[in-house]
Amino acid sequence: MVEGKTCLITGATDGIGKETALSLAKQGAKIIIVGRNQKKCENVVSEIIHLTQNNQVEFLLADLSLMREVNGLAERIMYGYRHLDILINNVGAFFRKKELTEEGLERTFALNHLSYFLLTHKLLPLLEHSKTARIVNVASIAHIRTDMNFDNLNGEKNWSWYGGGWNAYCCSKLANIMFTYHLSKKLEGKQITANCLHPGFVASKFGDNNGLFSRSIIKTAKFFGAIGVKKGSETSTYLASSDEVEGISGKYFASCSAQKSSKQSHNEKDIEKLWSISEEYTSEYL
Ligand SMILES: NC(=O)c1ccc[n+]([C@@H]2O[C@H](COP(=O)([O-])OP(=O)(O)OC[C@H]3O[C@@H](n4cnc5c(N)ncnc54)[C@H](OP(=O)(O)O)[C@@H]3O)[C@@H](O)[C@H]2O)c1
Repeated sequence: MVEGKTCLITGATDGIGKETALSLAKQGAKIIIVGRNQKKCENVVSEIIHLTQNNQVEFLLADLSLMREVNGLAERIMYGYRHLDILINNVGAFFRKKELTEEGLERTFALNHLSYFLLTHKLLPLLEHSKTARIVNVASIAHIRTDMNFDNLNGEKNWSWYGGGWNAYCCSKLANIMFTYHLSKKLEGKQITANCLHPGFVASKFGDNNGLFSRSIIKTAKFFGAIGVKKGSETSTYLASSDEVEGISGKYFASCSAQKSSKQSHNEKDIEKLWSISEEYTSEYL
């Protein structure tokens, strides 16, 4: 039950995040959506309020591929809200071409993994104020396609034009799962759970940020094989709100049930290495 709870969802101006926000608003939660486009945020907030008659829907702006902005966002939340009950790290994208952010981070690694890592760390004190809090990380089944490529985590090597971006994406989703497993261990004894999920292959805007070639392939695949965004938001909504998962932590879910993630995702040595590398990359703000 989420009535009266405060829920923050990143990347909630479209796709799975937006639909999750709508479902939780319908159930009476106070929703804070995080997006990077002011106009889009305003429109989504109005739309959710209109559809749910729940006026407790707000937005905060941040480009989550920049750690400076993730940190600024966290500070605004820490000072502006008395407590936070549910954090859904949902933002994510696939970039076929290698791009570095102005902070020198490879964009997939920064947006899909480091934003989850840094935002969660910064918001833990607020989550601890909640009687029971939940952290939900949106990962993907794509994680099964890779090991953690530590030698190319931040795009250190050249990318092949066909597979480099996809490999970085798969790695970032493996990182979401490893992060969840380790976080859950660190949270033992506290009233905060952390779980992650694969939402399904969803006909969202996923992939639309790329050039015509990749966009066409992804669009065709979505046309033939994807589920709608409502269905695609079900596992995120379930993990955020269902009584069935009260107290359950450190699990990977798909179709609203706990599933096995890849063997690599349980590699303790890699999990610890990823954690300390992530600390190094975000150390300026931790
Ligand atoms: N779609 C799938 O089949 C699928 C499968 C497995 C996992 N996932 C995961 O599901 C999550 C949500 O993806 P989706 O399919 O819903 O994608 P989507 O439709 O493209 O939505 C992505 C959301 O993230 C926002 N966003 C992107 N870059 C941002 C940035 N730099 N700063 C702030 N917000 C940013 C977008 O904002 P704008 O509205 O401004 O673009 C949008 O609200 C991702 O983590 C993805 O990896 C998706």
